[in-house]
Amino acid sequence: MLESRLRELESRGLAQLENAADRESLEAARVEILGRKGSLQALSREMAIVPADQKALIGRLLNGVKAALEQAYDRRKAAFDKAALDARLEGEWFDLTVPAPGVRPGKLHPLTQIQQELEEYFTSLGFAVMDGPEVETEWYNFDALNIPATHPARDAQDTFWMEQGHVLRTHTSPVQVRAMEKFGAPLRIIAPGRVFRNEAIDASHEHTFYQLEGMMIDRDVSVAHMVYFLKGLMQAIFRREVTVRLRPGFFPFVEPGFELDIQCLICAGKGCAVCKQSGWLEQCGCGLVHPNVLRNGGIDPGVWNGFAFGLGLTRLVMMRYGIDDIRWFASGDLRFLSQF
Ligand code: PHE
Repeated sequence: MLESRLRELESRGLAQLENAADRESLEAARVEILGRKGSLQALSREMAIVPADQKALIGRLLNGVKAALEQAYDRRKAAFDKAALDARLEGEWFDLTVPAPGVRPGKLHPLTQIQQELEEYFTSLGFAVMDGPEVETEWYNFDALNIPATHPARDAQDTFWMEQGHVLRTHTSPVQVRAMEKFGAPLRIIAPGRVFRNEAIDASHEHTFYQLEGMMIDRDVSVAHMVYFLKGLMQAIFRREVTVRLRPGFFPFVEPGFELDIQCLICAGKGCAVCKQSGWLEQCGCGLVHPNVLRNGGIDPGVWNGFAFGLGLTRLVMMRYGIDDIRWFASGDLRFLSQF
């Protein structure tokens, strides 16, 4: 009796497990057949009343049926699991061959780039690169450069005054005197750096901008030497032949003093909006170092002389890239910075 009911449960159970349409009905079939209150458990309780001489036989049959049903359940479950995994992999497909995004490299600020180019140009010509303090003494910023307290040239530069005779340097020229004191003659230095003026800010004026000072002291230095270096510098920056001219310009620390212009690169001198129809672009102040300045730097003007120039680095960058508003430089705006 028990034997035939076991066989009947086996064939019915196998069919039920195998035909389960989804995971839910498979689970329901498992509970019904193999669960603690299921059909197989009910039959196995009847082992208690099986006659002793049949116990071994029926026991083996019971175990065989149980194993067959469990295997059928495992097989079916594995099939459903695999189907579910396949479906998920299909849905989550992604292309392993697409290159990883990687780290976005940063860039040097356009001012730093042009500064480094100029440092390379001048060091190749035997110039040393010097630094000077941004908070300067009145002596180095003005007096040592032949600009006494009463001199009207002090009014030309709107100075940020600090306590105890200090100023935020209004130009890089104070490094001229520091360099002469430090190295003596002969001397070839450039000094790039930040300078500050108390300006009303607009598209072409900032309170903070960058200059590059240059100075060469030797015997019999002439304006021709100065023009040679400055013309070479302009050509290195604009990467083409440029025409330069000198106009008289007044700076108390040079004599004679000049403004150096380059012929407009946009219109080749014909006159356009960029050069305000003049055909020329103002580039830098320059001249032969005034004897008083040499003396203030501890150098004998009877033996040595030299030239000096002060270049607006910020202006140079604006001209090279056609940037029309100086306020972009310190904006930190990546739309601006990522273009260089
Ligand atoms: N220091 C001057 C300025 O800021 C420029 C300059 C430098 C002129 C050296 C002559 C010689 O305007």
